[in-house]
Amino acid sequence: MKYRIMEQTRPGGLLGQVYREVLVPAFPPEEIEGEAGIAETLEAGLGSLLVAVDDAGRPAGAAFGRWSEASRVQLLAYLAVKPGTRGHGLGGRLLHDAVEAWRERYDPCVIVAEVEAPDAPMAHEAYGDPRRRLAFYEAAGARVLDLPYFQPGIGSPARRVRGMLLLVLHADASFTQGRPDRLSGAPLRAFMEAYLESAEGAPPADWDAKALFKAIDRQGGIRMGRNRTGG
Ligand SMILES: CC(C)(COP(=O)(O)OP(=O)(O)OC[C@H]1O[C@@H](n2cnc3c(N)ncnc32)[C@H](O)[C@@H]1OP(=O)(O)O)[C@@H](O)C(=O)NCCC(=O)NCCS
Repeated sequence: MKYRIMEQTRPGGLLGQVYREVLVPAFPPEEIEGEAGIAETLEAGLGSLLVAVDDAGRPAGAAFGRWSEASRVQLLAYLAVKPGTRGHGLGGRLLHDAVEAWRERYDPCVIVAEVEAPDAPMAHEAYGDPRRRLAFYEAAGARVLDLPYFQPGIGSPARRVRGMLLLVLHADASFTQGRPDRLSGAPLRAFMEAYLESAEGAPPADWDAKALFKAIDRQGGIRMGRNRTGG
């Protein structure tokens, strides 16, 4: 089967079908926001949805990214390929095309992605295998940030997702200070402050968030490399 990758930056189009048929089945409910949240981001001009469609125009995979203008950080919020199509290179193509499109359009400080730690339990086959998923990103050159990361809770801090890793898919050379294993924390601090507040409805005031920001502000930058848990 041949696939064509198309991008949409406005709501409507294939969004509803992609949300129902590709994204919802691929993520645990606590890791995915409502379709309205994605549509709002597109409406605000801050979203990019890349969709891989088959010959009949049906979506088989998608990547959705969200731009934070204030911090100049792009988040790959969702990447998924339908289960029957996995393992044939489509996820790799989507990731490559997304990173290229976003680098060119935004000239970001950093492009990041959230993934489950490789030792997370495999909750359901449809959600994929955390160990293979991290290997997929690392094969594409992603580096794991040494941070006590958690995914902000959708709607409330009580809904945070623990045991997540934050990956760097691309970093502008000016934020790696000439060292491939260190990332300057400044853009990430601004990004995480805005991300936590917008997802959870208020700025965080708890120890987990404090520990995260302390690690982001570490002198000399944030260490980044291959899977730090050794899984
Ligand atoms: C991760 C994912 C997008 C990869 O897409 P894909 O089209 O299968 O990837 P490719 O064919 O380009 O690359 C193959 C690699 O992807 C990974 N992969 C393949 N199937 C996978 C699965 N069921 N679970 C996790 N990773 C998988 C493996 O690392 C594989 O390499 P391997 O065959 O040497 O083990 C896809 O498996 C998926 O949708 N998983 C569920 C949702 C998800 O985990 N999204 C990422 C978090 S944002």
